[in-house]
Amino acid sequence: NQPPVITIDGPSGSGKGTIAKLLAEKLKFSLLDSGALYRLTALAALSRDIDLADEAALTKVASGLDIRFEPRDGEVAVLLEGRDVSRDIRMERVSMAASKVAAMPGVRAALLQRQRDFLKPPGLVADGRDMGTTVFPDAPVKVFLTASAEERARRRYEQLREKGVSVSLRDLLEDIRARDARDMNRAASPLVAAEDAVELDSTGVTIDGVLEKVLQLVLERI
Ligand code: C5P
Repeated sequence: NQPPVITIDGPSGSGKGTIAKLLAEKLKFSLLDSGALYRLTALAALSRDIDLADEAALTKVASGLDIRFEPRDGEVAVLLEGRDVSRDIRMERVSMAASKVAAMPGVRAALLQRQRDFLKPPGLVADGRDMGTTVFPDAPVKVFLTASAEERARRRYEQLREKGVSVSLRDLLEDIRARDARDMNRAASPLVAAEDAVELDSTGVTIDGVLEKVLQLVLERI
């Protein structure tokens, strides 16, 4: 008898990270940001000058990752070999590299058990691309969160502007489309809604609006 898992999958910028975090806080569940694991693999590979096409080398990086997630000022700090890389893993360069390494079956296999290890009582909220299809196929609540590419680029643009990072909206939209295409068209765990997932479109919906819908599902199913 496993504790319950709530999976939230969807493309980048759909709001799944925000929703997953709020949901975990509300339910006092653990949180798995699976994208961070792919980002950490990418960052480690970039900093060691590893060829992003070398699957064997990248698989080794993924299985040997020395990482920790630590609560810090209401956020979760991500540590790679003891160094806080919370900001570094969000850089556009790392996002792109992450979606490349994530296409490799060896890397995905190396990270599978690590992701399952996040499950402990009273439950887990897991966000990513294949939480409901591959990592936690028996989860009682599965959400597939989407939003139009334009809206997702706009959200990312606002986020970066708040942080004082200047980028062009057009470039962001292009990046998002490239990542979507790579995530959806890869052979290993492509981005696709699980058959039993509930699809929610967050275009034009507030965070609270989405959260309310997900909480309703939780009440019905857990
Ligand atoms: O969700 P996030 O944007 O942080 O994920 C970074 C990249 O990691 C994605 O573009 C995707 O290619 C990959 N990823 C994945 N499977 C997951 C989570 C993320 O392939 N479960």
